[in-house]
Amino acid sequence: MESPALLLSLLVLGFSTSAIATLNVRAIFTFGDSIFDAGNNHFNKNCTAQADFPPYGSSFFHHSTGRFTNGRTVVDFISQFVGIELQKPYLQAQIEVANGSTKDYPSNGINFASAGSGVLLDTNKDLAVIPLQDQLQQFQTLIDQNQIDKQLLQNSIFFFESGSNDIFNYFLPLDTPTLNPDAYVQAMLTQVGQFMDQIYKLGARRISVFSLGPVGCVPARALLPGAPVDRCFGKMDKMVKSYNQGLENLVKSIPSKYPGAVGVYGAVYDIVQLFRAIPQRYGFLNVSSACCGDGTLGGLVQCGKEGYTVCPNPDQFLFWDYFHPSEHTYNLISKIFWSGTQSRIRPLNLKDLANLTV
Ligand SMILES: *[C@@H]1O[C@H](CO)[C@@H](O)[C@H](O)[C@H]1NC(C)=O
Ligand SMILES: *[C@@H]1O[C@H](CO)[C@@H](O)[C@H](O)[C@H]1NC(C)=O
Ligand SMILES: *[C@@H]1O[C@H](CO)[C@@H](O)[C@H](O)[C@H]1NC(C)=O
Repeated sequence: MESPALLLSLLVLGFSTSAIATLNVRAIFTFGDSIFDAGNNHFNKNCTAQADFPPYGSSFFHHSTGRFTNGRTVVDFISQFVGIELQKPYLQAQIEVANGSTKDYPSNGINFASAGSGVLLDTNKDLAVIPLQDQLQQFQTLIDQNQIDKQLLQNSIFFFESGSNDIFNYFLPLDTPTLNPDAYVQAMLTQVGQFMDQIYKLGARRISVFSLGPVGCVPARALLPGAPVDRCFGKMDKMVKSYNQGLENLVKSIPSKYPGAVGVYGAVYDIVQLFRAIPQRYGFLNVSSACCGDGTLGGLVQCGKEGYTVCPNPDQFLFWDYFHPSEHTYNLISKIFWSGTQSRIRPLNLKDLANLTV
């Protein structure tokens, strides 16, 4: 046990107790959509939801990686904070094991996220994205084949974020939804509940769930008939908030429902609203339009596609492209989730989650 005197001297020297504890994270496993996708769609040649062309990736990797931003995602930043290498996309790892360029699946975790996917099986099926349920199946197959060490799962954090595409598509003119908004959100949450059951059964013990951001504020809303341009799309954000509330309730139920598991809920929505309310404090000059794109709000054309323009300083923009935050936005969110207070991430921040032994 640390004596109070030792503790005091460490504090005087500028150390905190958590800085001297070793982080108990060797791997990160990630599930979700384009917020997290590190290139799975790129390695899926049938898939038409892609960001594997310039200027994606230009600010950090200096080439496109399949990530839907100009640099690192939140999971990339958290990996760096933890001190492990960025995870490969599952499909890349699978190809490398199959073609013999690597012997084993990576020991620092795997990224299963697929841009365009949702929590509902049919969301963007026509784009050949990998639905959440299939992502889980890919993970399960690796476990069943003993490709992932069971012990490693104890030393892992699991990340989940999905739902934006389901809700955005609810408002697409060609898909007339059969469910009302409440029933649709409930159907989404049922899928998330099943995902939690499964991931726990497969060995996940530290589970980090991110809320959706204000999807009704993305520049791509300009594509939707009836959506306002001068403000966020209220009907969409109402569904997002209701989904987020359900998500937080699911996270709160983790300790009682899943013995030995810990869940944290990261309030992306509130953080992004803060950035929009006081942009200057966070270094933003523009929180409404895409840095890279074209048309109304830069939201009518995907970054990199014919007719696009790109802003000179992406760090000054909340949005990199029509749907996605800039690396600067992801960096800020990552720092807040790493060491922030319960108003942003609860009941633990990621640094405390990383220090836990489960
Ligand atoms: C791509 O489509 C072909 C033809 O439908 C199919 O055989 C193949 O399995 C698909 N590949 C992936 C990665 O889904
Ligand atoms: C194996 O796949 C990886 C990833 O696509 C590629 O970079 C590498 O060149 C391939 N190796 C062989 C021997 O085909
Ligand atoms: C944000 O950037 C877009 C595109 O460059 C521009 O048209 C718009 O006026 C900017 N908005 C603000 C508030 O600066």
